[in-house]
Amino acid sequence: MKAKGNNLNRRNFISKSALFGAGIVASPIAFANEKNLPEKIEDSKSAFKTDKRMLGALEVSPIGLGCMSMKSGSYNPPRDAKDMIPVIRGAFDLGVTFFDTAEVYGPFTDEELVGEALQPIRDQAVIASKFGFELSTGSRGGRNSKPENIRSAVEGMLKRLRTDRIDLLYLHRLDPNVPIEDVAGTVKDLIKEGKALHFGLSEVSPTTIRKAHDEQPVAALQSEYSIIQRALENEVIDTCGELGIGFVPWGPVCRGFLGDKFNEHSRFSSDSRLSQVPYFTPEAIEAHMEVLTLVREWGRKKDATPAQIALAWVMAQKPFIVPIPGTTKLHHVKENQGALDISFTDAELKEFRADLEKIELVGVREPETALIDQ
Ligand SMILES: NC(=O)c1ccc[n+]([C@@H]2O[C@H](COP(=O)([O-])OP(=O)(O)OC[C@H]3O[C@@H](n4cnc5c(N)ncnc54)[C@H](OP(=O)(O)O)[C@@H]3O)[C@@H](O)[C@H]2O)c1
Repeated sequence: MKAKGNNLNRRNFISKSALFGAGIVASPIAFANEKNLPEKIEDSKSAFKTDKRMLGALEVSPIGLGCMSMKSGSYNPPRDAKDMIPVIRGAFDLGVTFFDTAEVYGPFTDEELVGEALQPIRDQAVIASKFGFELSTGSRGGRNSKPENIRSAVEGMLKRLRTDRIDLLYLHRLDPNVPIEDVAGTVKDLIKEGKALHFGLSEVSPTTIRKAHDEQPVAALQSEYSIIQRALENEVIDTCGELGIGFVPWGPVCRGFLGDKFNEHSRFSSDSRLSQVPYFTPEAIEAHMEVLTLVREWGRKKDATPAQIALAWVMAQKPFIVPIPGTTKLHHVKENQGALDISFTDAELKEFRADLEKIELVGVREPETALIDQ
């Protein structure tokens, strides 16, 4: 397994799989019982990875860290800053320089956490955050990308992130009432003022990418993409390649599924965000166990864990792809960094895809949806 010198040896990994294989009910209650103490990094040198990838003109580590669920508790109960700061700083020690958050996560609490964690190493980190929702009441409202809302969002971000600039400022979701040119123009002004350094978009169509890019060069598009959720292969990733835009897959380990976290018996309580995910219905999970089996087989061939295969696979698709797996656990960060040691030949990628295409997926996005702003 590619987790050099870490505590996740094959025996631990097998016993971990067996635990989840026993059909744990994945609900916030189940997560609440997990021990979540960050591990010491005894071997950070051997696990440290320095290769870089480019998102437009922005240089980042080839794997980033998704910080969404840490304080917002999207997939787990909200964690304490004292437990999450060592995960973020530990990730940095392992070579991760690219950290992803958004004002809507919490709202605001994830940005506060990321700001606190990165303050001592601010100049060596790349911070990405996102605007695009009405949050003036302190809870999430509808979409709002009016120029004045973008500006006030950025002022709040700078305070919470304890910085004078946002390295990568994304539009989180398109506001149907504000032309994308106006959004891009506002970000262009913020870049001129030095409050943002690069412009990003999330979950938009190729048409919107092109319009935005004409007004202000786009460094990155962030949208859901994984071995299971492949709709974005319909024109979106190619548009990024054509325009020199980086692609940042969120959900690269399929929200834990490709990390071998669930099995065909997993069920989500109604208060879990995962209960609303169409590819996690009982029928869908059962169908996708075949994908997990395939990923495990590749794991055996490459001496890697399923999460490592999931990450290595997305990175192998294009050199401008930079996944941002989300995790609350330092040992998962370490494991995920091991994906950097895995490569696929063209023939292997072809074989993998041919097998993948034989599997009928359930509840995933249709390719046509990639052509529509989400
Ligand atoms: N632009 C958007 O609209 C958007 C939407 C959603 C998310 N995002 C961003 O993208 C990031 C990643 O997406 P995501 O969190 O939705 O999906 P993800 O990265 O595919 O999955 C996250 C889940 O996978 C688990 N996991 C991670 N590494 C693992 C490993 N090695 N083994 C087993 N389980 C593992 C984590 O659990 P543990 O905590 O137990 O490790 C977590 O619950 C987020 O943190 C957020 O910053 C953006």
